[in-house]
Amino acid sequence: MNILAIESSCDETAAALVKNGTDVLSACISSQIKIHKKYLGVVPELASRAHVQTINQVIEATLKKSSEKIDAIAVTVGPGLVGSLLVGRITAETLGWIYDVPVLGINHIEGHLLSPVLSSKGLRPPFIGLVVSGGHTEIILAKKWGEYYLLGRTRDDAAGEAFDKVSKMMGLGYPGGPVIDRMAKKGNKKNAPFPVPWLPGTWEFSFSGLKTAVLYSLRRKKKWSISEKQDICAGFQDSVVQVLVGKTIAAAKLLKQNKVVIGGGVAANSQLREEFKKQAKINDIQLILPSPSDCTDNAAMIGAAAFFKLKTHKPSELGSLKIQSSLHIPYLKTWK
Ligand code: KG4
Ligand code: ZN
Repeated sequence: MNILAIESSCDETAAALVKNGTDVLSACISSQIKIHKKYLGVVPELASRAHVQTINQVIEATLKKSSEKIDAIAVTVGPGLVGSLLVGRITAETLGWIYDVPVLGINHIEGHLLSPVLSSKGLRPPFIGLVVSGGHTEIILAKKWGEYYLLGRTRDDAAGEAFDKVSKMMGLGYPGGPVIDRMAKKGNKKNAPFPVPWLPGTWEFSFSGLKTAVLYSLRRKKKWSISEKQDICAGFQDSVVQVLVGKTIAAAKLLKQNKVVIGGGVAANSQLREEFKKQAKINDIQLILPSPSDCTDNAAMIGAAAFFKLKTHKPSELGSLKIQSSLHIPYLKTWK
């Protein structure tokens, strides 16, 4: 089955043609980083206008690279910026009408959760998933395809948001994650230790206190040298990594799960990936890491999520999967 997937929830306009949920036949992505960089964050109105300008070209470029027929269209319908989502959604519905194929509405976070299947085609649930993006930080138990339980999420900032805000405070630019990742490699965390926000006894996260701790330490003086900034990046990143890895591995052990996957933009972080590899080995856990380009927003993950959603429904149930008028599209169950 070939699914044409469209993603426009934030600042990337992306399309991909995905065969059987895991083979990316073609893909195209247009980033808006240049537009938002000077504002040090995504400006929603500029984002939706840029999607309008590029979405047709992105889809045309994707379809040009492959002559395979399209069986269904999948589009991100939330969470995300409402204007940006609407551009993708209207485009998808129009194409669905032209090609006369069903249009499925997909939850963006479900896409991130399933993105590891794009590089590890044999991946099957059950597994523990950590989704760490600019807007979300969630530990999820995936019992079966389509049966996902929320174990814990952030109480305040998402991990990626904390990276972006700390970068902004230090004048390092947007998006903050990749810059902090690079700076931290040259820094020494021991010179700038920060508290690790463990929230013991829960699978929840909190990053706003850590962010404030960085702010207070930055206020200690007016000018910071590059090497001091590198130390702060290393100290901050280490605290985030310790809590993300520690809680995910602890959840896997407690629930006797031997498979862990990660997804979302922060999953591209080099220290996070190394620490997960180390802890997975120590704890005899199979770790499935998506490639860094599959971690950040892309359309292939939406095609994968749509395929595995279809897999859990009979053809007669297709109607219930078709795009709904609500932008709220739940995909998680509560873990009791
Ligand atoms: O998943 P994503 O592309 O978009 C959302 O759904 O939010 O994630 C974007 C987030 C941004 O906050 C960005 O700073 C962060 O992912 N990010 C990183 C890295 N690359 C992107 N954070 C830490 N290290 C990275 N290498
Ligand atoms: Zn995302």
